[in-house]
Amino acid sequence: MWKWILVVAVAAAITTPATAQSPIVIKFSHVVANDTPKGKGALKFKELAEKYTSGKVRVEVYPNSSLYKDKEEIEALQLGSVQMLAPSTAKFAPLGAKEFEALDLPWLFKDDDTYAKAMKGPVGKWLFQKLEAKGITGLAYWDNGFHMTSANRPLLTPADFQGLKVRISGSKIADRYFRDAGAIPQIMAFSEVYQALQTGVVDSCENTPSNYLTQKFYEVQKDITVSYHAHLQYAVIVNSKFWDGLPADVRGQLQKAMDDATDYTNSIAKKENEDALAEIKKSGKTTLHYLTPEQKTAWQEAMRPTYKWAKGRVGGEILDLISKELNVKTN
Ligand code: LMR
Repeated sequence: MWKWILVVAVAAAITTPATAQSPIVIKFSHVVANDTPKGKGALKFKELAEKYTSGKVRVEVYPNSSLYKDKEEIEALQLGSVQMLAPSTAKFAPLGAKEFEALDLPWLFKDDDTYAKAMKGPVGKWLFQKLEAKGITGLAYWDNGFHMTSANRPLLTPADFQGLKVRISGSKIADRYFRDAGAIPQIMAFSEVYQALQTGVVDSCENTPSNYLTQKFYEVQKDITVSYHAHLQYAVIVNSKFWDGLPADVRGQLQKAMDDATDYTNSIAKKENEDALAEIKKSGKTTLHYLTPEQKTAWQEAMRPTYKWAKGRVGGEILDLISKELNVKTN
């Protein structure tokens, strides 16, 4: 009997240190393909996090909704079933942070630089503060460029939107600007869009070239308008309890990995989308359309009421901040 107790005690002594050394696992779930700015960013974070922590952390990346779809992944983060996500900021209302939807206002960012400056400055910081009370920590913003719009007919004037069923990703601001143009928007998980377009459940969608290419949306949409009417960005977020509970040195190494992965992702986003657009064009499976200045103005005028409406949705504070930072009128 004593002999057995000794054997068990020795075995425990041998295995305990090994257990204590087992890596901290970060499950990083997202909904896009690996071959996109976000997909590449997640893999870069994995590489650097494992390197900087000398293997104390293992990052498991689950792309393409392979672990969770849009809504589920937000719930999973709150429950602690995953530790890290990078959802589009258009999907933050279920987190209790609908202020993020202000970023979806049409033609808000003049260009890539304006967008980048806003997110690095007070606008990005203010929004991350909103997450704190929800038990979520915002680590970084990742860029994915501007949205195009598509259908099986050219979308050139607001009249072309009449009665069009458009898939949107979650933002009520997007819902509003498509309604203002005469369309009928519908929220749908990203993983379901291809089939919904193919079977006619919806007629239309908006997204960036990298998503059109990797999800093959361009194969089931005859006409794409390179409208670049709104911006798509992600916030990389973690469960605060998990993040704050990490050993301080590991958290510091992970933050550095995130900062470096962010620089990388934001440096490739523009080119990735340009290359994706060129590939879509080369495929010959769809026709690309570009708005004339007059057409663009007509879209902007049709969607302008969204700005007034937005105040009731996202509040005046974020709109005032954006207006000050970007030097634009938000009402
Ligand atoms: C979408 O649902 O259209 C996008 O948010 C997907 C993504 O993460 O880029």
